[in-house]
Amino acid sequence: MKNISVMFLTTCLLGFNANAASILEGDRSVPVESTNGMVVTSHTLATDEALKVLKEGGNAIDAAVTAAFALAVTQPRSGNIGGGGFMIVSNDKNGQVDAIDYREKAPAKAYKDMFLDEDGNVNKDLARFSHKSAGVPGSVAGLALALEKYGTISLAKALAPAIRLAEEGFVVLPRFTKGTTSQKKRLSKFESSKKVFFKKDGSAYQPGELFVQKDLANTLKRIAEHGAKEFYTGKTADLIVEEMQRHGGYITKDDLANYEPAIRKPIHGTYRGYDIFSMPPPSSGGIHVVQILNMMENYDIGKLGHNSAATIHVMAESMKRAYVDRSAYLGDTDFVDVPTKGLISKEYAKSLIVPLSDKATSAKTLREGDAPAYESSETTHFSIVDKFGNAVSNTYTINFSYGSGIVVEGAGFLLNNEMDDFSSKPGVPNAYGLIGGDANKIEANKRMLSSMSPTVVKKDGKNFLVTGSPGGSRIITTTLQVISNVIDHNLNILAAVSAPRLHHQWLPDEIRVEEGFSPDTIHLLEAQGHTVTEKSAMGAIQSIMIKEGTFYGGADPRRSTSKAAGF
Ligand code: GLY
Repeated sequence: MKNISVMFLTTCLLGFNANAASILEGDRSVPVESTNGMVVTSHTLATDEALKVLKEGGNAIDAAVTAAFALAVTQPRSGNIGGGGFMIVSNDKNGQVDAIDYREKAPAKAYKDMFLDEDGNVNKDLARFSHKSAGVPGSVAGLALALEKYGTISLAKALAPAIRLAEEGFVVLPRFTKGTTSQKKRLSKFESSKKVFFKKDGSAYQPGELFVQKDLANTLKRIAEHGAKEFYTGKTADLIVEEMQRHGGYITKDDLANYEPAIRKPIHGTYRGYDIFSMPPPSSGGIHVVQILNMMENYDIGKLGHNSAATIHVMAESMKRAYVDRSAYLGDTDFVDVPTKGLISKEYAKSLIVPLSDKATSAKTLREGDAPAYESSETTHFSIVDKFGNAVSNTYTINFSYGSGIVVEGAGFLLNNEMDDFSSKPGVPNAYGLIGGDANKIEANKRMLSSMSPTVVKKDGKNFLVTGSPGGSRIITTTLQVISNVIDHNLNILAAVSAPRLHHQWLPDEIRVEEGFSPDTIHLLEAQGHTVTEKSAMGAIQSIMIKEGTFYGGADPRRSTSKAAGF
């Protein structure tokens, strides 16, 4: 593994818009090493609680479920029980790789045009910030399923740290205060949210203060006592349905009672001899991670150089072609046929990208559409490995930071606004600027398309890289860049997660870059006809690399609270 120089790494890290001060917290200069277990999450407390589970002899799945519930308490902007997600579980001993789909579902009353106004335009407020924006949550059922099928500890034990953190409170860090302060207007719209996130005088909790969540603690206790079914058929279900009825939401008792997570076959592809396992539909993540890597494989990216104009040209051209297909073909495979085999085939990828002109391909010649705007996103990913050969790659979300902004009265948790991930109207972009078609139209009980890409890369049949990220439409490109940084450029895992990233999603027709790219490189790309736009940091890719029996943890410095820890 190439050891990048301290100067290069420091330049990378300090170059980001993301909280540069974060790198001063803890030792962020080298990957964390261990041989018995490794946890990398976006919150120090979740990492600590999950690591305790591993140290007590639990496996990676036990630790993952513990981390997910701890994040639901300590990082309410994205950690959740009111949302959904995806988990890849890979076991080296038996070679089995499974994908757990606990994505939210549209309620039975949902219908295609539910977010259109009388003029046929998308009512964005209704789609994103109303009770109708919430899908039926899947997190509790999905995490319980993971534990039951692959874990060794009880649900009550996995919930215990979260209950303690909610009941006794935890000390607020600066990132928490920044989040609630910046979203104050949205989180104050509903009294149920305002009283959870702000003090009695209406002010935000400050760094160093204790944040206690009694209602959430009681909800988690009920789940610990009665099992996941409590959330779907017990008092928590009643509280959700009452919340819906008070505010015109669609989720009913039947929707909750009927919710079921699914175990699916992961997407499997290869990249330069490594095996890539990632999430199948209803996420677009796995298909497009593999498709873009397949296109890149036609060029010697390692030789072209890390983040050189030549490499970025190949990557951006590959990315935009994949996002055209995403908009045309991807949806919930329980409802629509997705040509998965074709999309991830090497031949198809080659036909899209070979030969490649030196000039940028205009997005308009690929497909027409309106130039959309980006919005902020929050999802959270964690990676965990254990000494038993298990690797867990988990991404879950309530969509935006703080989801719909609506806390269920009396239950203390935020509802997702995942219904905006459907295509409300063909050709009209969602919050991430993603354009969808009929395959992703709103239908009753359907899962909305996602970009979440929890991924496990294997080398010679053994777990090698565990990775994934938040970032809405940028999840796919963030994930594949870390894979390429490791495989093509031989970067160590911390350098791979820290290096400046780029993104192209067909529309808008621009290469979005983080700070840290050389002006020379940008000028070369512009001379090729690319529009290059520097915007805020993308993703938070919590990753683990496994080499010769040692686990290397790389926590993304773009999140001040990220932490890798092993033992
Ligand atoms: N809510 C973002 C995604 O699932 O892709």
